[in-house]
Amino acid sequence: MSERATDETTLFRQSWTLYDSISEMNYMFHREIYVRITALLSQRHAGGPYSLLDLGCGNTRFLAPCLKTVPPSRYAGVDLSEAALNEAREYLSGLENVALYHQDMLQAVQAADTPFDVIFSGFAVHHLDAEGKQQLFHACAAKLAPGGLFIMVDVVREEGQTREQYLEGYLDFMRTQWTAVRPDHLEEACAHVAAHDFPETFSDLKRMAANASLTEVRLADRFAQHHVLVFSA
Ligand SMILES: C[S@@+](CC[C@H](N)C(=O)[O-])C[C@H]1O[C@@H](n2cnc3c(N)ncnc32)[C@H](O)[C@@H]1O
Repeated sequence: MSERATDETTLFRQSWTLYDSISEMNYMFHREIYVRITALLSQRHAGGPYSLLDLGCGNTRFLAPCLKTVPPSRYAGVDLSEAALNEAREYLSGLENVALYHQDMLQAVQAADTPFDVIFSGFAVHHLDAEGKQQLFHACAAKLAPGGLFIMVDVVREEGQTREQYLEGYLDFMRTQWTAVRPDHLEEACAHVAAHDFPETFSDLKRMAANASLTEVRLADRFAQHHVLVFSA
């Protein structure tokens, strides 16, 4: 694992429970977003059995209930946090054909030996720099089965907004809205965001997807900065 990758996930490895409590309080709209994900997966499930690769799966606390509603024929989850993967085993129990990999997401997609019908990523792609995101789009396009979907949940910058302007707004949102988070935990989360969040604009993501021959792009939903994007070949 590279030094950068180790560094990036420190919050998730050492304080997984902090992210878990932030999502439990719905500060990042996990509830609304995963209702939309269930609807998208239901549509795909209605078309026949589907396999799903989950990049930066975390503990799958929010995706696991969706998967139990519309079970994939095969699920592979990838994350750099062993603590999160250990919890994921519990949340996913009862589902068949589950595999979890302690691996970097780009390496995992590149190494996949069979295609997936759906590649999903929730709040993880913004940890990659622009070059890493472009490589990820290429790798996903290469590993999607015909008619496959890349469903990406992530924070997105407004058009014309710099990363600094985005961070100013997001850190203000955290400090003013995330009122139930302990002050020392809030500062830890803010420091993580300031150091490791590199969201793109929607048009930059569309350009990266088009470069990788993923030409159909849809904004399925958005809740403030938190977007649900669907890319297909
Ligand atoms: C904010 S959490 C999201 C968890 C879950 N997908 C969700 O939607 O709530 C981001 C996850 O991505 C993982 N992650 C970050 N960079 C990664 C990388 N390069 N490869 C694999 N996992 C990564 C972190 O360890 C963390 O579990």
